[in-house]
Amino acid sequence: MLAIIGGRGLTELTNLKITHRQVMRTPYGEPSGAFLFGTLNEHEVIFLARHGFGHTIPPHLVNYRANLWALHEQGVNKVISVATVGGIRADLTPGVIVVPDQIIDYTHGRDATYFDTRDTRYINANFTLPYSPALRERILRSASKVQQPCVDGGVYAATQGPRLDSAAEINRYERDGADMVGMTGMPETVLAMELELNYATIAVVVNHAAGRGDSKQGINMEHASATAGAAVERVRSILECVVSCDAG
Ligand code: HPA
Repeated sequence: MLAIIGGRGLTELTNLKITHRQVMRTPYGEPSGAFLFGTLNEHEVIFLARHGFGHTIPPHLVNYRANLWALHEQGVNKVISVATVGGIRADLTPGVIVVPDQIIDYTHGRDATYFDTRDTRYINANFTLPYSPALRERILRSASKVQQPCVDGGVYAATQGPRLDSAAEINRYERDGADMVGMTGMPETVLAMELELNYATIAVVVNHAAGRGDSKQGINMEHASATAGAAVERVRSILECVVSCDAG
């Protein structure tokens, strides 16, 4: 079964026919909110709002371990995360949708593994390809079928937040090879891998990164929210096709 973790601007899926909601508990505490069980184009999906339905949980306080653990417990084997990002690379301008293929972790102090005791056997997650190549392909094929342009690949810089970046930090991330910047990619991506979930991200560029384009004096969050809102329909049409045009 597929789960969708929605970020800013995608706290609900209007075309999701909800069958029931369920509050989950895990050994790691409670997920960000009740899981919405439903159907999207007659295919079963679970939807979770990463920041809570009232958008009250900041990126560094999201219980990533509980979110993914509870999805795994429900029999989920594929997770598509939807996230907003700031664009660093010149072609990643506001409104562009991108499916990243690499990630760099700049977060700190987050619970980033399930192997945090000394008495269970652990694995070293093989993070060479952080996102599921098969699920990425499926998203890209679906986007192309519904004629939604989507950039194939890019490096996601995961920052701690909740503050935005300084212009010098963005320059540093660019020197490191990053193409976009967001606050929720880690540890979500690696926790999904520890649970052997197929995981990929649809990133929506909602602003030029700090110091770039029209963000030279700062990022206009109202514009960013409006850009996220305008992109939601396009993301939804891609997701609908992922579950129904291209099932398997
Ligand atoms: N920086 C960090 N996270 C973000 C940004 C940004 O510019 N835009 C959306 N999420």
